[in-house]
Order: sequence, then C-alpha cells, then structure tokens
Amino acid sequence: KECNILAISGSLRRSSSNKALMKAAILLAPIHMNFTVYEELNSLPHFNPDLDVEEGPIAVQDFRGKLRAADGLLICTPEYGNGVPGVLKNALDWVVSSAELMNKPAAIITASPSPRGGDKAMESLLLTLNMIHAEVSEGATLMIPHIGLKLNAQGEITDEDTKQAVQALLRKLHTTCEEKQAL
Ligand code: FNR
Repeated sequence: KECNILAISGSLRRSSSNKALMKAAILLAPIHMNFTVYEELNSLPHFNPDLDVEEGPIAVQDFRGKLRAADGLLICTPEYGNGVPGVLKNALDWVVSSAELMNKPAAIITASPSPRGGDKAMESLLLTLNMIHAEVSEGATLMIPHIGLKLNAQGEITDEDTKQAVQALLRKLHTTCEEKQAL
C-alpha cells in the first residue's frame, strides 16, 4: 500500500545540508513511499493562540491539511543554539491544539558539522513530538555528525554508512506506516 510522507527541512538556507539530505533520502526511499516536500515553513505566522481560532490563518490551514493527508512525517533539521530551529518549533506549536500528528509515524534526522550530530536538537524535538503523541519508533531517529564530509557538491550522500543508515530509517518509517494502515 502507498505510504505518503510529508518531508520538512528545519533549515531555510538555500544550500542547506539538511535540505540536500532530505532530497537524497527521498531518492533512496523504498518503493510505495511517496514524498511531498513542505516548502512553506517560512510562511507560517508566529504561533499565537489568539490567531488559533476557527480555521486559523490560511498558511496554517494549508500546513494542517498537508499533515492530515500524510501517513507519516520526515524531518531533517540542523541544531541552532543547542536547540530546534525556531521555524520548525513554530510549525510544531501550530499542531499542538489541532493534533494532526497524533499517532502519526515520524522519523527524524539531525545533521550537523559538529561531532555531536545535533544531539540537543534531537532531544528537544523528541520532547515536543512525544508531547503531541507523534509516533517516533525506535530506529526512526538518526543523528549525522560531520555532515560536510558526507555530502558532495551535488548534495548526494557520498558516505556509505550514512546512506545505509538513512535507508534503514526510511524502512522503519515505512514499516510503521504500514502497521498503522493495517489497523
Ligand atoms: C549553528 N550551528 C550549530 N550546530 C550545532 O551542531 N549546534 C548548534 O547549537 C549550532 N548553532 C548554530 C547557530 C547558528 C546561528 C548557526 C548559523 C549555525 C551550525 C549548523 O549546524 C550548521 O550551520 C549547519 O550547516 C546548518 O544546517 P544546514 O543549513 O546546512 O542544513
């Protein structure tokens, strides 16, 4: 059965390594896994409960609709200031009340030039995703250190271990989606 994944990069940067990784991951994914890249992170307003009335702002409706339509979520994100990039946290804050991620399988990749691989962003992101009851299975998280050494100028993954780790993560996400669909 087809498994539709919404993919989000926590970096807005044009030459982002996380964006490159996300695109490379999509090309490595198993068949029957279809990806939509959410490109509108930057158009979401700052979360404000005062705006979260009736259907909410158009950009928020669009984001929530895309999450509802997806069977699962893939996040690739850097770490900024020992935490989750503000734009990504902002997006997640918009779905705390509306609960689109409740029971939805999610996989997370953090990539960083540092040897720690964005561990603090990962930890923080997991706290948030757990709070909103997204389903992050064991094996659905991956921290990639020294990212600059693992991608070439075309944004392809040149490191074999990284490639395999990304494929394993996607297989895990796919399996979790299939299990949900079988319920
Ligand atoms: C960073 N970077 C960074 N890296 C990290 O591992 N932990 C951190 O806390 C931070 N903090 C941070 C703050 C600011 C203001 C900048 C500009 C950068 C480095 C960051 O991981 C690096 O720039 C990545 O390349 C960003 O990811 P993208 O844009 O390549 O996907």
